[in-house]
Order: sequence, then C-alpha cells, then structure tokens
Amino acid sequence: MYVLSSTYSIRVEVEYGRENVPQTSTYAFLSSIIFLFLDFIDTLLCFIYRYLDEFFEGKAPHCYCKKRREQVGEEEIELSETLYGRKSVFRKMGFLGFTRKWKECEKTGGVQRKNRWSDCGCESCVSWMKNDEKKLHVVVREPSQDSIKASRGNPIENVIFLHGFISSSSFWTETVFHNISESVKGNYRLIAVDLLGFGKSPKPRDGFYTLREHLDIIEKSVIAPFDLKSFHLVAHSMGCTIAFAVAAKYTKSVKSVTLVAPPYLPSSKDEASFTVLNRLAERRLWPPLLFASSFMSWYEHLGRCVCFFICRNHRIWESTLKLLTRKRELHFMIMDLTKHTHRSAWHSMHNVICGGAKYIDDYLNTLIKHGIKICVIQGDQDDVIPLKCSINIKMKFPDAKVLIITNAGHITVILGREKEFTQSLERIWSSSADTNALVE
Ligand SMILES: *[C@@H]1O[C@H](CO)[C@@H](O)[C@H](O)[C@H]1NC(C)=O
Repeated sequence: MYVLSSTYSIRVEVEYGRENVPQTSTYAFLSSIIFLFLDFIDTLLCFIYRYLDEFFEGKAPHCYCKKRREQVGEEEIELSETLYGRKSVFRKMGFLGFTRKWKECEKTGGVQRKNRWSDCGCESCVSWMKNDEKKLHVVVREPSQDSIKASRGNPIENVIFLHGFISSSSFWTETVFHNISESVKGNYRLIAVDLLGFGKSPKPRDGFYTLREHLDIIEKSVIAPFDLKSFHLVAHSMGCTIAFAVAAKYTKSVKSVTLVAPPYLPSSKDEASFTVLNRLAERRLWPPLLFASSFMSWYEHLGRCVCFFICRNHRIWESTLKLLTRKRELHFMIMDLTKHTHRSAWHSMHNVICGGAKYIDDYLNTLIKHGIKICVIQGDQDDVIPLKCSINIKMKFPDAKVLIITNAGHITVILGREKEFTQSLERIWSSSADTNALVE
C-alpha cells in the first residue's frame, strides 16, 4: 500500500492503462457484427415485451427505445442522457419510435404493491411491501454497553456505509463489522444500508432510481430517524456517487468521506454521462467482464431477459449452486447478485453511475471548500473502475488523500484484507478530528 503523491501519479497512469485489448481488423469486424445483431434483438424484444406486459399487466411500462420527448416532466429531467442517447442503428432509423407510447407517469400515490410478472415474487423478494413506511433496510451495530463504559464517555461517532452496484449491506457487515477493534466498538455506531432497489430494501416498480431518489430515501431512513448531527461516510463503487451527494448536502455534519474505487472520470458536464458509460461499459467483446457490463448497460430488453432468467429464478440457482458446491450457505456476494429487479439495476446504472457523474466535480469542490476530509482507496488491479479514477481525484484535488493498494482488485481491495482495510478506516475516522494528522 502506498499513499499517492501528485508526482507519482503520472507513472501509475501510464502503467495501468487498460489498453491491452486486441484491436485487429477481424476483431473490429466481428465486434461490429455482434453488436449490430444485439441491437436488432433488443429492438425485437421491445415489441415482444410490449405484448407480454400488456397481456400480463394490461399496461406496458415505458422503455427508452423512443426518442426523448421535447417537453419533459419533472422526473424525466433527472434521468441520465445515456438512457435515451444509447446509439442503436435501429433507433436512428426511427424504427423504435412507434413501438411504445410514453404514458404519462401516473401518480399512484406511493409504491405499487405487486411484483411485476417478470420479477421474482418470493417472500424474501417482496417482504419490503409489507412495511407501510417505505424505508431502506439498515443494519446497525450499536456500541455495546460494556464498551461504552470502557470508552469513558467519549461521544458516539456514527458511520454510514454505502455499498456498490448489485450488492448489499452484507458487503460491509460481513467484512468491516467483524474486524473493528475493541476501542472503536465502544464509541462508534456503524450503520450499513441496503440502497434503494437492492438487498432487502424497497424496489418500487415505477421508481427511476435517480441520485435524488437515493439521497431522499437515505435521509428518510438513516439521517432523520437516527437524528445524525455528525457522521462519517464510507462507500464503495456506485455508492461513492451517492456518498458525494449526501456529503455535499450535509457539509456541516460530515466528518470524513472514504471512497473505495469511486467511478470518477472527469469530463465536461455535457459529456460526463457518456464518458462513464463508454469507459465502464464500453461496447467490446473482450475482456468478458467488459462485454457483460456493456450487454447489461446498453440493452434494456436483453438485460431484462437476463434478470428474468436469473433474478426471477434465483431460488433455483441458489439450490443448484449449493448442491454443486456442497455448501450449506453461499457466499454473501453471490446471494446479493440477484437481490434486485431489472428496473432497479438498469436505472441505478444509468441514473446514478452515468448520470450522477456530471455532479461529482461540484460535490468535490463543495467538500474541499468545507474542509471535509476525503480519502480515496483503490486496488491497482481494479478491472471494473480504472485506477485512473483515483489518480484523477488526486490530480484535481490534491487535498484528497489517495491510497493505492498493490495487488488488489475492485472487490479484493476489501475482501481478503478485511483487517487491514478496517484499520485504515479507523485511522481515517480518528484522524478526521485533527485535519493535519496523517492517515498512515
Ligand atoms: C475479519 O473479517 C473476516 C471476514 O468476515 C473474518 O473472516 C475474520 O475472521 C475477521 N478477523 C478478525 C480478526 O476478526
């Protein structure tokens, strides 16, 4: 592990560029044929889903195959440009314009209480519908009574943990929560949330999962009920974008912000959403991870098929996997993979990860202006978020502390080194009172 200084950054950037992808003409040809084919299938599926939705539910939800309307409603303004702007030959030809009519967003006065025919309706997937108050699922680790005494009445510090895309509070409760030291147990209250649309939290079928919706429900479920006047934030990946928004709104309360692999790719405001989409989900066949993310981020209806197949039938997959691996419990990360609906994942990908990108510079400026401690942690082998993201933060905001962990990836920056990671967090929290103290 090393702390990044501004001079070091240039070399790292050159070393870890993700340019080792085959770029021959055969590859380019193959790639364009396959993506053209996928464009076509997605168009076809637009028709098929429309009829299926109308058949099962009487009304087809809108999709983003159409051109964006000139006059946009309040909800639509906050939608990411990438939703309507994804290029498709077929959209360009105006094929898709007539497939779906945008029905005025009906104000249903709350969340519709029924799972969609294409989403899983098992007890655990719909358990959130039973609660009247629509609040996020939060896991709280209160300071224990014994240790409160031992800490001799130090004030209680709060930490809010935000997980990444297709994950849940388990990402923190199964790692950091098990590794906090005795002294921290005494005066820290740890709060891990399941973000809107993930884990055990509500997955409203007509939600747009915009940055604002995520922020609002975090306020309603964590900040207001716990009456948090001061807190630290810890976030991973997509959660970082939300953490920026929370911190920029609560500059008086936030003591430190720790960002693990933040998706930060600086570009002009107009292009920010597409810069992120094109970089994190570039339409490429290779490497497979990139192909998978482009498949799920560019093709709304194909992605819905994948979710229909996997998330809707997650119980079958889980028992099959348990049988094959002869384990009684599956790893929490595998269990979390299916705890979302297509709508929640699709919209969070676009509206938070892509659409939220254009606000990050402003948020960062606000945090710096208020002297809030920012610490960025990333593994140098991260193949989801380019290492450049952390380096760019350091270059643009030299006040931010950047820790690069050698031989660690997007997830293994925490998993497998829980103890060290937790120790870094504890150092950040304890030093945030004194802004001159070093993290190391
Ligand atoms: C840290 O957390 C990991 C993962 O939960 C666990 O396996 C390990 O035993 C913990 N370490 C300590 C010292 O408690």
